[in-house]
Amino acid sequence: MSEIVLEIKALTRRFGSFTAVDALSLSVNSGEVFGLLGSNGAGKTTTIKMLTTLLPPSSGDALVAGCSITTQSLGVRRAIGYVPQAVSVDGSLTGYENLLIFSKLYEIPHREQQTRIREALDFMGLTADRDRLVGQYSGGMIRRLEIAQATLHRPRVLFLDEPTVGLDPIARDAVWKRLIDLRSHYGTTLFFTTHYLEEAESHCDRIAIMNRGKMAALGTCKELETALGEGHTLGDVFVHYAGRSLHSGDTFRSVASERATAQRLG
Ligand SMILES: Nc1ncnc2c1ncn2[C@@H]1O[C@H](COP(=O)(O)OP(=O)(O)OP(=O)(O)O)[C@@H](O)[C@H]1O
Ligand SMILES: [Mg+2]
Repeated sequence: MSEIVLEIKALTRRFGSFTAVDALSLSVNSGEVFGLLGSNGAGKTTTIKMLTTLLPPSSGDALVAGCSITTQSLGVRRAIGYVPQAVSVDGSLTGYENLLIFSKLYEIPHREQQTRIREALDFMGLTADRDRLVGQYSGGMIRRLEIAQATLHRPRVLFLDEPTVGLDPIARDAVWKRLIDLRSHYGTTLFFTTHYLEEAESHCDRIAIMNRGKMAALGTCKELETALGEGHTLGDVFVHYAGRSLHSGDTFRSVASERATAQRLG
């Protein structure tokens, strides 16, 4: 049986009287590619923020690589990488300089820093562009640099919040090729959110669909399609479990932040 690297136990987050994440429980195996889906405002980013220790849960807990997000946040932070929904690299520095800062932040021993940076650039296909200012990178290159940055310390679990939003299909494929290489080479577990169903279908071992903070469905794409009956697509599965039309749940905040992200990447 596969080893469990992420165990989420009744994880809950309230903002005032509103419950954004409601008693979410699920386990992810080491080396798995796991997709978290759901309409705008379903609670995906809030979940990832709790799992990466950036936001304390109101109740419940999660173990990441055996460390509790509530009592062992330092252990969790050492075991994870995080590519947030918003841009997380500095456009006024080169790709190399961005990685150098993070290699220090992650306390990678001085004698290993240059090798790690070289490998990370190579792995993400950015060696030729290492000395260019990131402000001149395309959206796809920025995302690949962010992944290089988030994996310099070889985390066991990489969390990615909408890693391909705003990218054209070719740039999206390039990002995914590198992510899958990362999984094959280092056994990195990938836990990501997306609104692109075809991305979930092509790359995920399993998916979960959230609806108003609760888990509405969990399984492989095939299992969820079959459970609805013959001839159903993942689109049908999403509409069935996500529970509403795509735009009825939008808030100004979520739309503004998503558009801003897409624009900056795009
Ligand atoms: N700091 C906050 N204060 C109050 N409400 C918040 C806060 N952060 C998130 N929320 C609310 O919690 C809900 C879940 O938000 P979250 O960002 O987790 O959704 P999401 O599934 O990531 O959506 P999207 O697909 O648009 O990124 C939303 O209704 C949002 O408005
Ligand atoms: Mg989000």
